This record gives sequence, structure tokens and C-alpha cells, in this order.
Amino acid sequence: MLKGPIEFCFFSGTGNTSLAVSRMSAVFQAHGLEVHMRPIEDTDPTTLPAEGTLGLACPAAAFTTYPMVWRFVRNLRPGAGRGVFFMCTMGGSTGGLVGPMKGLLGRRGYKPLGACRLVMPGNFMLKGRSIPTESATIAKAMIKADAFAEALFEDRAKWVRIFGWPDLVAALIANDRPFRSMRKKLAMSVDQASCTHCGLCVSHCPVGNIRMVDFPIHSDRCELCMRCHGICPANAIRIGGKKYPQYYAPSAESPRPVQQ
Ligand SMILES: Cc1cc2nc3c(=O)[nH]c(=O)nc-3n(C[C@H](O)[C@H](O)[C@H](O)COP(=O)(O)O)c2cc1C
Repeated sequence: MLKGPIEFCFFSGTGNTSLAVSRMSAVFQAHGLEVHMRPIEDTDPTTLPAEGTLGLACPAAAFTTYPMVWRFVRNLRPGAGRGVFFMCTMGGSTGGLVGPMKGLLGRRGYKPLGACRLVMPGNFMLKGRSIPTESATIAKAMIKADAFAEALFEDRAKWVRIFGWPDLVAALIANDRPFRSMRKKLAMSVDQASCTHCGLCVSHCPVGNIRMVDFPIHSDRCELCMRCHGICPANAIRIGGKKYPQYYAPSAESPRPVQQ
């Protein structure tokens, strides 16, 4: 049963997940529930208020999710029967995320209320962009987000857990490992000729991985969330040395939504 207040903790690199979180929050609020939207990067899981329902949301990344999200969940206080729901956004497949998240939260004493996966536009190493296709994908996902929020409110949401390979995938990769190897092959860097020194990438990196020396320098904690890439006003961030089209969800609250 969904109980207010809802502590809705989420991570969103390029705004897709935060669009869906806002949408679901609006449904909860329309039903009279208090909602606190809490970006994971600004939230201490050990001091999160213990009343009401816990909501979690994140993107799929490398068939799991970002290490910072797993760290957040592992550091939550024991649930003691508190209800929790989960929403994730993805380009196509979540791999070891939804079921293993249920398993982890269950082991930590939370009561799973429901989970939902939303297909959203891809944000990683794009070959090109089609704004009409992206808009249609987002519109469909928002309808699904509304329906999920209603199902949670009416206590009929489900959180399906398929045992087997998702758990195996999670056991292998729900940690820093895939990101360590991606960091090497797809290191983020700044094209000095394009960079305008605005510092947006430095101030908005969720893990404090970028520092301004003469130019922004990415250090070794990058989680490849693509926020720096999506918000750069000069499209100066390179992935593995290459330039790609930028993505930031339209109309999501962002430091600077990028117009294509
Ligand atoms: C490094 C990286 C890895 C990704 N891996 C997956 C994946 O394994 N499966 C998938 O469906 N989408 C994957 N995506 C796409 C994102 O999950 C999708 O675009 C998501 O909606 C982005 O959410 P955000 O805008 O809130 O960050 C990946 C994106 C990035 C940046």
C-alpha cells in the first residue's frame, strides 16, 4: 500500500528518468500524497526520513545501473517492512536490474510494491537523432509512467522477478567492473579547441569527477552518465576521443537543455 510522504530518490544523467519521476510525482500529488523528489547524488541514504514510501528510479546502464545507484541502495537504512517501488528508464533492455533490485531491497527489509521499465530515447554514442521519434517515445513512456503511478496508488502494481540469468548478470556486473573497463575504452575527454571554459561540466558532474585545470579534466571515477556530454554548450566532450550528437531530454529541468 502506497503511503505518504513518498521519498522519491532518483538518478538521471540526461533527464529521461527525471521526466518520468516528475510525471509520476504529479499523479501521486493529484491523489493528495506528499512527494519529496530527491536526486541520489544530493541525498544521504543513511539520513533519509523513514516515514512513508520509498521510491527509486534510475536509468539502465551497461545492462545494470550506475555504481552510485547500487551504492545508494546498499547504504539505505534497513527497511523494517517499508514499502518501496522502482522505476527505470532504458534504451531497450535492462539485463540484471529490475529483479536483482527487488532481491537486494527485499534482503534489506523493504516490501516491494511494484516496478516498471520505460523505454526512452537512447543517450549514448548516438549515430544521429530524430526529434519526432524521440518525442513519440517519450510521450508513450509518460503514459506508461502515469499508469504505473495509478497502479501503485490502487495497490495493483507488480514487481516481476525472473530468477536465473538477471541475478547472474547482476552478480557479475552490479558493481564497478563494467564501468572500469568502459572508462578505459570510452574515456571522456574535452576537445580543447571547442571548450569555452564555462565550467558547467565541472559543476554538474554527479560524482565530482571533473576538475577545471586549464581545461576540464575527467578523473577516474566517471560513471559515464552522459550529463557532461549532454549539457556542454559547445559539444566539446568526446567519448573515447570521438564526437557524438548530444542528448538531453527535452523540457526536463536541466542546467541548459541542448537544442539540436
Ligand atoms: C553508459 C550507458 C550505458 C547504457 N546502457 C544501457 C543498457 O544496458 N540498456 C538500455 O536499455 N539502455 C542503456 N542506456 C540508455 C539509457 O538507459 C537511457 O537512454 C536512459 O533513459 C537514460 O536516462 P537518463 O536520461 O535519466 O540518464 C545506456 C546509457 C549509457 C549512457
